Amino acid sequence: MRIFLAPMDGLTDDIMRHLLTRVGGIDVCVTEFVRITNTLLPKKVFYRASPELLNSGKTVSGVPVRLQLLGSDPVCLAENAALAASLGAPAIDLNFGCPAKTVNRSNGGAVLLREPENLYKIVKSVKSALNGSTPLTAKMRLGYDDKSLALECASAIEDAGADELIIHARTKTEGYRPPAYWDWIAKIREVVSLPVVANGEIWSVQDYLRCKEQSACNDVMIGRGLISNPNLAKQCKLVSDGEPFNPIAWPDVVALLIEFFELTLAKMGEKHATGRIKQWLRYLSREFTEAEALFLTIRQDKTPQLITDKLKVCQAKVLNA
Ligand SMILES: Cc1cc2nc3c(=O)[nH]c(=O)nc-3n(C[C@H](O)[C@H](O)[C@H](O)COP(=O)(O)O)c2cc1C
Repeated sequence: MRIFLAPMDGLTDDIMRHLLTRVGGIDVCVTEFVRITNTLLPKKVFYRASPELLNSGKTVSGVPVRLQLLGSDPVCLAENAALAASLGAPAIDLNFGCPAKTVNRSNGGAVLLREPENLYKIVKSVKSALNGSTPLTAKMRLGYDDKSLALECASAIEDAGADELIIHARTKTEGYRPPAYWDWIAKIREVVSLPVVANGEIWSVQDYLRCKEQSACNDVMIGRGLISNPNLAKQCKLVSDGEPFNPIAWPDVVALLIEFFELTLAKMGEKHATGRIKQWLRYLSREFTEAEALFLTIRQDKTPQLITDKLKVCQAKVLNA
């Protein structure tokens, strides 16, 4: 069984991937989407999306990072995929699930799920550009407005030659609202034979076990659940091995937050770093009451020094507790 860290634009950048894969339990990462319109992008765009390309396409902990592309032009996607593969991406992933209006208006992301024949053309074109040397995977939702084309879309992706399919078990219209329809993944598995990875609404070990059972998948992808609960993948691995598992301890989360803030500040500058740390704390608040308290103390702070000082005070308190 494998656990994937979901691609999440504005959340799972190289820093988050580095920290979460170091905590452990994650087998595969996927970059945030790289949008392809009608040009061959410069190499620097791919290095920015995946600095791991300079480390054989892996995080420091050795976890492969697939490069995700989003677009609708089969030829242009193919050219860009070939370039990303030549830079060392361990696999290329195609995004057929993005619900954003701007993306869907230009015929990319989830809107393609209305047109299985176009999914076929895109996957086929990218697959042939990759020459069999780099695996091609796709990530889809169950549909756009409804689930009526779910099986057809999955079959089109398989017939066109994709090596693996990740299914976010909701339509575009269902957005990110629970529930995720894991049983639909099992229905799709009955009609395709490529490996399938189940995704959506895994927040706990219990969800993980239920998702595996209902989707009939061994492999799962976790997004927001891993941001809220950084060792969730590790817990899932332990439970699968019949071992006892514990949530990550709050002092360890504080150490991660301090490192995250330092790295983000160095990479993105003050404005973005202060936004990112608040964003992570809000996700962590779901699991840790301490995170909510910390969020409230830094919520109004705009200067990194103030935030660093408060993080350090928090660390000193938890170490002395
Ligand atoms: C903020 C955010 C950004 C996302 N960005 C991407 C993306 O770039 N590519 C993609 O395929 N899915 C993206 N997704 C969808 C996630 O990969 C995943 O399918 C979804 O969050 C459901 O999984 P979860 O319930 O475990 O979070 C994004 C989701 C969120 C919440």
